[in-house]
Amino acid sequence: MRIILLGPPGSGKGTQASRLCQELNISHISTGDILRDEAKAGSNLGKEAKSFMDKGELVPDRLVTEIIRERLSQKEPNDFILDGYPRNIAQAKALDEILEQNNKPMDMAIYLDTSEATIIQRLSGRRVCQKCGFNFHIINMPPKKDMLCDFCGSKLFKRKDDEADTIKKRLAVYLKETSSLIDYYTRQNKLTKISADRQASLVYDELLDLFDYLKVQR
Ligand code: AP5
Repeated sequence: MRIILLGPPGSGKGTQASRLCQELNISHISTGDILRDEAKAGSNLGKEAKSFMDKGELVPDRLVTEIIRERLSQKEPNDFILDGYPRNIAQAKALDEILEQNNKPMDMAIYLDTSEATIIQRLSGRRVCQKCGFNFHIINMPPKKDMLCDFCGSKLFKRKDDEADTIKKRLAVYLKETSSLIDYYTRQNKLTKISADRQASLVYDELLDLFDYLKVQR
């Protein structure tokens, strides 16, 4: 199963992808997570990427596409969910080429349709575990103990790009660069849209049903 999860910041791509991949035993490839890990490790790639991420801008295509090319050119993973890539038409075309070269055709692009009010509420309340990266929300998905991760007990923090001004910038970048991918995958007959303004468990159940349908079609 090879899926692209599309959607604005805060639509729940990371939340849904990590749960689905665990349930289905497939790989979760999140360019945001990979870039944040690189930044944390202080690599050259991480340093360059961080300067764009902190401002809410896209990291240059050449850096991100190289990460994806390297990941998908290996035999494994064969089944995966892409979360946060592609982010513009140039990346989508590069992905088509990479997948074709590696004989790994995409099954579906799923668009998590989310309202602006929901996006702002979710991103401003998001807290992330500094060690394992698990996402919480101070109201929607609070940790059991105040500001500590339920899974590894480490401290939670607010992402720098979840400050109000950077959220606005990320939304503007999404509308200018990424939203055109909805048409791109519609033209390829690959797009399925689901409403992501709902409770996470309802979105998850609909995604699982879609995946079951895809398994039957294969
Ligand atoms: P990235 O980390 O990918 O950020 P994003 O796409 O802006 O998405 P988010 O992680 O903010 O949101 P999400 O949709 O995953 O929502 P989440 O599940 O966390 O990228 C960060 C940066 O890296 C980019 O700005 C860019 O600089 C760079 N980058 C990455 N990929 C790139 C690329 N391909 N090209 C160039 N640059 C790239 O949920 C949000 C919150 O809501 C959480 O607190 C969660 O608990 C809560 N929540 C989730 N679902 C629900 C629900 N249904 N109900 C209630 N609460 C919910």
